[in-house]
Amino acid sequence: MSQKLEMHSTSKPDKCAVVTGANKGFGLEIVRRLASEGIQVVLTARNEKRGMDATTSLLASGLSNVVFHQLDVRDPASADSLANFIQSEYGRLDILVNNAGASGVVVDEEGLKALNIDPIAWVSMELLIQYSGLLKKYDRNTLKLIELMQLSGKANNIVQGVIKHTYESGEECLDTNYFGCKRVTEALMPLLKLCSSGARIINVSSLRSELKRLPNEQIRTELGDICSLTEDQLDCIIKQFLHDLKQGKLEENGWPMMLPAYSISKMTLNAYTRVLAKKYPDMYINCVHPGYVNTDINWHTGTMSIEEGAKGPVMLALLPNGGPSGCYFDQTEKAEF
Ligand SMILES: NC(=O)c1ccc[n+]([C@@H]2O[C@H](COP(=O)([O-])OP(=O)(O)OC[C@H]3O[C@@H](n4cnc5c(N)ncnc54)[C@H](OP(=O)(O)O)[C@@H]3O)[C@@H](O)[C@H]2O)c1
Repeated sequence: MSQKLEMHSTSKPDKCAVVTGANKGFGLEIVRRLASEGIQVVLTARNEKRGMDATTSLLASGLSNVVFHQLDVRDPASADSLANFIQSEYGRLDILVNNAGASGVVVDEEGLKALNIDPIAWVSMELLIQYSGLLKKYDRNTLKLIELMQLSGKANNIVQGVIKHTYESGEECLDTNYFGCKRVTEALMPLLKLCSSGARIINVSSLRSELKRLPNEQIRTELGDICSLTEDQLDCIIKQFLHDLKQGKLEENGWPMMLPAYSISKMTLNAYTRVLAKKYPDMYINCVHPGYVNTDINWHTGTMSIEEGAKGPVMLALLPNGGPSGCYFDQTEKAEF
């Protein structure tokens, strides 16, 4: 079922890492950076050709410690096959970067291109959301923020016409970003437990994961209550979200209206990160917003390079012993959930 581009070395490597969704975007850059540190990296991708091409490009650049293995995070059999491969080749796993992600929307790309939106307007939309809490608290109605609001409001209204949230795209998004991460982590957990210095697990999240963006107070409180939160509760929240998505009741029931499925997938992913970190205190399990990076997932509206986007996840993959666990990072800085 899974064809691999095998570049065997005779001895077991000091450290072994898996990166999901690594055929492009900054996932590929994460692989390059980790391999440059001397770590044996398994580059995974759902599509064999895309994954093999990406691996070949890294090998051609002079790196020898990268291998490809197929992994569709939505397919339990492919996660099991990856686990068997790592077990037989390396005997354990030290680093897992859960990077694969889906946007949860269907986009008319030609229509979006035709709109020719200034990336500054997209960034200002992000900044506006980020600072709206501060605005309320301190009433800082500076001229700059008013300008940003005007720009962001304009961009937001314009893009609604070319971005559609369907039930199918929402379901796919949650199955990839939340359940996909959980599926792969569970399949690889027995191997991660064998890492004697405490495995590093990095869940690639988003600014959209931040709980202040969730209007529903009850669910916001539940997701923030790390003392009592459970995986079953997370499954229930997702079920409730999908039910409301199907019934067209997102706004009525206080779900986020900007990229709803994507936002919920990353909010629950962050919560899962904390639950997991509590369950495995010997590991270093964190989640990270990589920044607004120029990749396919945002139709190349991002303003940061893939090198910049890889910085946070790579920093967490290379955390020294005694580093943080159960935390959320905005790029390389620790931030509030
Ligand atoms: N770019 C940003 O500004 C930004 C901001 C915040 C968070 N993120 C997060 O960063 C991560 C990487 O995204 P990116 O920006 O690098 O976007 P990207 O270039 O679109 O990469 C997404 C990767 O995920 C893979 N993928 C999707 N579904 C998969 C599945 N079922 N199984 C395995 N792989 C799958 C894609 O594979 P295919 O090539 O086969 O589609 C691709 O390799 C995502 O989790 C995203 O949510 C990105």
